[in-house]
Amino acid sequence: MTEVSRPDGETNGEQGPARRSRLTRRGFLTGSVGGLAVAGASAVLVGCDESKAAAPKPVTQVPFRGTHQAGIATPAQDRMAFAAFDVTSTRKQDLIDLLQTWTAAAEKMCAGQPIGTVGGTGEQVPADTGEATGLDAADLTITIGFGPGLFDNRFGLAARKPAALEPLPSFAREVIDPDISGGDICIQACANDPQVAFHAVRNLNRLGFGTTTMRWFQLGFGRTSSTSSSQQTPRNLLGFKDGTRNVVSEDVDAMNAHVWVNETSDQQWLSGGSYLVTRKIRMAIEAWDRDRIGDQQDVIGRTKVEGAPLTGTKEHDEPDLNAKGSDGQPVIPVDAHIRLAAPESNAGMKILRRGYSFTDGADPVTGQLDAGLFFICFQSDPRTGFIPVQRKLAADGLNEYIKHVSSGIFACPAGLADGEYWGQRLLA
Ligand code: HEM
Repeated sequence: MTEVSRPDGETNGEQGPARRSRLTRRGFLTGSVGGLAVAGASAVLVGCDESKAAAPKPVTQVPFRGTHQAGIATPAQDRMAFAAFDVTSTRKQDLIDLLQTWTAAAEKMCAGQPIGTVGGTGEQVPADTGEATGLDAADLTITIGFGPGLFDNRFGLAARKPAALEPLPSFAREVIDPDISGGDICIQACANDPQVAFHAVRNLNRLGFGTTTMRWFQLGFGRTSSTSSSQQTPRNLLGFKDGTRNVVSEDVDAMNAHVWVNETSDQQWLSGGSYLVTRKIRMAIEAWDRDRIGDQQDVIGRTKVEGAPLTGTKEHDEPDLNAKGSDGQPVIPVDAHIRLAAPESNAGMKILRRGYSFTDGADPVTGQLDAGLFFICFQSDPRTGFIPVQRKLAADGLNEYIKHVSSGIFACPAGLADGEYWGQRLLA
């Protein structure tokens, strides 16, 4: 068994040559290949019921390596844990060491394995925090991105900064809290089990001690977009279907045109990657819930139950932005969200939305729910993707019910070849 060592070289246990394995966390504990061979031994080792151990859950793994990073085109999982980190060390070698350590740990977790010992004896401090023990990979994807701050020349990277990687400009009506915005590095962990996603971020944070500090963290539940034509459209906390006209990963032309950075990029290290934008958007849920259905539908431009455009009857009917009613007014109002956000209103540009609902509990002053949309989108260039769309949304009828409170932009490099570590093309 190979442990992922901390940046300072401490391993908290045995060491050995790196090797790729298909063991699940359960398989790891049993010492069996694929977790199938010695279920009885599993019961002895983890002290669980033998009959349950004999029927392993289906293992759902998303490949960690490939042309593009997982977690972008991957069909959106149901849960998210997102963290932004600041790099506190000023030594480039510390950053490289950490990214190598993180890559090895992430690869293990995406294969459903712990990053090292969970138990042990005596004085040993477990290398893995343990809360995902017994859970499978749950489609975990871990996606990394680099923020503009990483290129401020602490690490000699100023010349390698992509021109598009600038902090987002100010937008109308936003009230951005800097404490939950920005960051040098982001980690997006998505899974179909909330504990698996949380475990991934927690363990990377732990490995970063001494090199990074966590700047902000957000949990998300309930994907608010389909990113594959195989998925049903989910609903956001306003109760509307969200993601109907999203870019889907099967649409290779759209992915290449709008999501992936191509080889004409000003920075070759980013070719095959994508720009990630985050916006934490609070919703005035109680006010929305008192609004009449006709107004809610006018605000979005779609019907609530079916999700059809106001000019159609079925969810996937094309919206007709030119249609006028008997009163001569546009059927989809001039300030409807879908009119302003549509590619037809934005020079044909599209973004891949991949957000999650969130709640941070209740507002202690008003007693109202502190909840909304943790908006995430990927695009080949934020200057033609998120930024102009968000500027258009200054006139959005939805603004009466939402407030943007945090903001982030990160450049996510391409996927990893065998043996490569996160950021190698940038830092080598
Ligand atoms: C809390 C905030 C938001 C809510 C509740 C929301 C909700 C929705 C809903 C219900 C739809 C219709 C279904 C669909 O096609 O996906 C939609 C569409 C869309 N939204 Fe949002 N959205 C929010 C924020 C944003 C932001 C910040 C952007 C980008 C700047 C954005 C971009 C889009 C785009 C591009 C579409 C597709 C429009 C089309 O092609 O018809 N949304 N949104």
